[in-house]
Amino acid sequence: MCGIVGYIGHKDCNNILINGLKELEYRGYDSAGIAILHSDKIDVCKAVGKIKNLEDKIAKSDLNTSSLDFSIGIGHTRWATHGKPTEINAHPHLGEYSYVVHNGIIENYKELKDELSTHGHKFVSQTDTEVIVHLFEYYFNQFKDATKAFKNTIARLEGAYSILLITKSEEDKIYFMKHGSPLAISKGNVEGEILFASSDAPLIGYGKDVVYLEDGTYGIATPDGIIFSDEVKWTTLPSSKQIAQKDGFRFFMEKEIYEQHDVVTDAMIGRIQDDKIIFDEIQKDFIVGINEIKICACGTSYHAALTASYLFERLSKIRCNVEIASEFRYKEPLLTSDTLFVVISQSGETADTLEALKMAKTAGLKTMVVCNVDNSSMTRIADTTILTRAGIEKGVASTKAFSTQTVVLWMLSLYFAQKKNVISYDVLKKEILTLREVPISLKVEDNVHEKCRRLSKRYLHGHGFFFIGRDVFFPLALEGALKLKEISYLHAEGYPAGEMKHGPIALADPELFTIALMPQHLHYEKIKSNVEELSARDSTICAISPLAFDLADDFIKTKETDHYMLEFFEMLVVLQLLSMEISIRLGNDVDMPRNLAKSVTVE
Ligand code: F6R
Repeated sequence: MCGIVGYIGHKDCNNILINGLKELEYRGYDSAGIAILHSDKIDVCKAVGKIKNLEDKIAKSDLNTSSLDFSIGIGHTRWATHGKPTEINAHPHLGEYSYVVHNGIIENYKELKDELSTHGHKFVSQTDTEVIVHLFEYYFNQFKDATKAFKNTIARLEGAYSILLITKSEEDKIYFMKHGSPLAISKGNVEGEILFASSDAPLIGYGKDVVYLEDGTYGIATPDGIIFSDEVKWTTLPSSKQIAQKDGFRFFMEKEIYEQHDVVTDAMIGRIQDDKIIFDEIQKDFIVGINEIKICACGTSYHAALTASYLFERLSKIRCNVEIASEFRYKEPLLTSDTLFVVISQSGETADTLEALKMAKTAGLKTMVVCNVDNSSMTRIADTTILTRAGIEKGVASTKAFSTQTVVLWMLSLYFAQKKNVISYDVLKKEILTLREVPISLKVEDNVHEKCRRLSKRYLHGHGFFFIGRDVFFPLALEGALKLKEISYLHAEGYPAGEMKHGPIALADPELFTIALMPQHLHYEKIKSNVEELSARDSTICAISPLAFDLADDFIKTKETDHYMLEFFEMLVVLQLLSMEISIRLGNDVDMPRNLAKSVTVE
């Protein structure tokens, strides 16, 4: 995820911005830049790669703020969403006399770009951000009033964003706005000093109090003070940067579970328009001649692939099969040119998946990668890249990568269905309406988290876990079992519920815990009878369902919805929280691989 910093004051602006960007490094980025406004001049410096590259470039330039009495600056670390990670696409973005940094996505940037182009504005980057600064200058040229221009600009933007904007026409001001992406402001300890950042870590040490802006709040910061559009609440800054990086959560995994409802919104922005799914990244005739999809991946990404296989066949009516990359690359696969070869990877670097992609390329297949890291090896090789926009994942157990992958793959299945004309208008409309509700399903409810915390006590011992489900809830069961194994080191297996009777049921006894995924809208009666069989053999049952189930020893209630995919995402959150709470109760550091996970104190 991108990071933003800003500074107004008398200290060395470069230094403060660079230090601030370093505090945001943990969020992941592929390029960085700063712009400094002082005495009617704006200097800018950008670099691809590490912040060190930016520092080296600044050192070689004449951009020196240490001797200035006063300066204003904005800085940014970029995680590419629109356009490759290049210097031109790095922020800050320039109009003629103003610069902007931006987190989030401007959904209607294409319309704005077209409109501004007709007024003679020239664009140099491939980003959505650049329209903001041009729009601002368009209005400034009209009104000759920067505040009015800024207000008019933000009124036109659709999507999720936080923005800092500086302009030569107002030498001592930063214009800011928050809508969907985080932005915090602090007054420095020194008179006339103001700091901005997209999370509070860069602010620690400079000021005491902070405002975490609410959506819709905008304003102007000057050395004389800050004007906010709405009332704001000042609170005390956290004392430790470690705590600040985790945004108050105990572990990165926990933070990332809670972040899911935001990042899936990012994954959908610009891709759902009214009653249509749009992927600008896919060429017009890409699926012409495609009769089959083969997906290859590892681990959690493999579970997203399996989930997608149900959706591709159900919605796009395309034959779909899934292979574990480490198996695929050592067999002698029969590949035919009517197959679209899709790899899924959070990192874009997993060796087996990368190798599988190369094999498909060599065989002349059309290829696609669904990936979280732009400019990774897989994105450089595949014909088409679809970014999942989850931001960096710090926790060792993948969480938000899986939810964004699944949402993107679901959208892809609808996109292919549209292209092939195999979906009715009503079904498509219903699917799209449901997609829009996914962020709500992924929102962690306090009572659900509390329930998982309480239940974690019971599920510490025993001789193993079966996670069971049917249809897309089978890959979800696999994912639940993987999460538990990976961070709790307890034996767990994911199983298709209907397979239990073919052998594994022999293991059932009270020390065998069954986590049963029982959605209301997909084969409820079938899964119910599978769970009844396990209960009859005294297995301890934890049912996750919107419908009460008498035979369950424990019951985690999910919300009643009208679509199985919303149940899917709700249950995903429950499984992630349950495995995390069990792991924490066992005294593990859930953010670390097992060999490094020291015992930690449970709060
Ligand atoms: C599980 C996990 C791994 C990864 C797998 C693939 O929590 O993190 O199973 O999913 O190593 O990695 P990517 O998606 O980067 O190819």
